[in-house]
Amino acid sequence: MLKRYWRLTLAGALLVSGTVQAQGEVTNGQQVAMQGDGSGAPCLACHGLDGAGNNAAGFPRLAGLDEKYIAKQIRDYNSGQRVSPIMQPNVDNLSEQQILAVAAYYAQQPVPAAPAAGDAELVAQGEKIAKRGDWNHYIPACESCHGPDNQGMGATFPGIAGQHPNYIKQQLNAWRAGDRHNDPNQLMTGVAERLSEQQIEAVAAYLGAQQAVAANGGPQ
Ligand code: HEC
Ligand code: HEC
Repeated sequence: MLKRYWRLTLAGALLVSGTVQAQGEVTNGQQVAMQGDGSGAPCLACHGLDGAGNNAAGFPRLAGLDEKYIAKQIRDYNSGQRVSPIMQPNVDNLSEQQILAVAAYYAQQPVPAAPAAGDAELVAQGEKIAKRGDWNHYIPACESCHGPDNQGMGATFPGIAGQHPNYIKQQLNAWRAGDRHNDPNQLMTGVAERLSEQQIEAVAAYLGAQQAVAANGGPQ
């Protein structure tokens, strides 16, 4: 009788707490970044614990990106909507709770200082495309979707100011080649396929040298 009573109490306690977690599951965002999904490499190995990423290696900066955008990208890798043989094995074992936790963690990291701008002429050309577009080639200003100064607009339009130039180029080329296709209504595909290779170089050089502003207000 006593045993039965304890069982019932335990069940009640689980119901009240509202969450039944898998045993031993790590649900702290920083710990997820340090340990990874349990089967792949830890996030920090490539993105850093601070989320700064790495330009030369093509690892995107995650620090200060919108947390819902980050979570969507992880889900897209897992569903195959966004394809990356490097990323997918590192996130395919994350639970939804871990995805939300690690996304919130990286969104809250302070954004690193922007590197100095390179080739002035290239950067000036990139600025024009980013702010005004190129109507001779039906290319809208990046700002018209990515928000003022390309700092991002909510969860749908990520901040691209202060993202690593090599990563920006890779993504634009992936859209042009049809390899990335997780954009709502193919909003980005239509833009990327009209950009020339030279324009991609220019806009990446410009954006990479802009100071990013954290989407969710930065560290608290
Ligand atoms: C072995 C290196 C590596 C590891 C480990 C890794 N990533 Fe990545 N990550 C990448 C690369 C490379 C890309 C860009 C892939 C592409 O082209 O889509 C990326 C892209 C991403 C993106 C998309 C960013 C954007 O701006 O759209 C998110 C979010 C992300 N990673 C989160 C994580 C998290 C969370 C973990 C740990 C659970 C993790 N990554 C582990 C290399 C890595
Ligand atoms: C019509 C709206 C629209 C315009 C204009 C636009 N974008 Fe985008 N862009 C998007 C959307 C939506 C996404 C996010 C797709 C997703 O959910 O994965 C995106 C994502 C991106 C990404 C990937 C960011 C990341 O973290 O992975 C890059 C890089 C990018 N855009 C560059 C540009 C550049 C450069 C321009 C201007 C030449 C531009 N975009 C103009 C809608 C737009």
